[in-house]
Amino acid sequence: MTLWYVNRATGIVCLVLFTAVVLLGVAVHLRTRFPGLPRFGTVALHRGVSLVAMVFLGAHIVSASADSYVSISLTDVLVPFVGSYDPLWLGLGTVAFDLLLAVVVTSLLRARLGRRAWRAVHWLAYASWPLAVVHGLGIGTDLASGWMVWLTAGCVAAMAVALVLGTVRAPRRDRPADILRSSRESRHDSFGESPRDSSREPSLPIGV
Ligand code: HEM
Repeated sequence: MTLWYVNRATGIVCLVLFTAVVLLGVAVHLRTRFPGLPRFGTVALHRGVSLVAMVFLGAHIVSASADSYVSISLTDVLVPFVGSYDPLWLGLGTVAFDLLLAVVVTSLLRARLGRRAWRAVHWLAYASWPLAVVHGLGIGTDLASGWMVWLTAGCVAAMAVALVLGTVRAPRRDRPADILRSSRESRHDSFGESPRDSSREPSLPIGV
């Protein structure tokens, strides 16, 4: 029973943290600078929150499969739609998890893969978010209480605003003056990352 509470609580924390991760990804793309942080601080925040979110996701998954109240095997955790417990809604969570695994693995291998391939796979993180939201809506117990509905609605609203901003206010990286300015900023403002890593290449609408 305790594990079930852990599973529910960590699911809710994952929803909030992954929403924050995507919002920070958009902030990186828009070159948002938070007060008291250097520009590359936004990148560091995005990575740090991603890491914490993955730890909570690990706890969410382990508590789901360790809980004897429901039967969720390791196969169900990795292979979508094959389990006996709520296969559709659980399967969507599994697909979200598989996509995030691909993002983590390619991020670890980023130096070998090259930036273009890494960025293409990084898009999957954005695809996993709506799947995870629908998974929570379909399988979650706490949706019966009003606050969970409001929390989920708040996350969806924040994401909608970020997507609009990410598309409308996308920086124009292709102008020579912008490239020069951003490389000058990077030299003064480096956070352990080369200018090439974060600012000079043209990017997908909300890529980071
Ligand atoms: C990015 C991936 C995921 C996110 C963000 C996520 C998030 C959530 C959320 C928000 C809930 C609703 C919690 C509630 O209403 O109390 C939930 C429920 C649940 N999740 Fe996930 N989840 C993810 C992946 C997974 C995976 C891979 C599994 C297991 C294989 C899983 C197993 C469950 C179970 C069993 C519940 C039902 C808990 C209950 O009865 O309320 N989730 N998840």
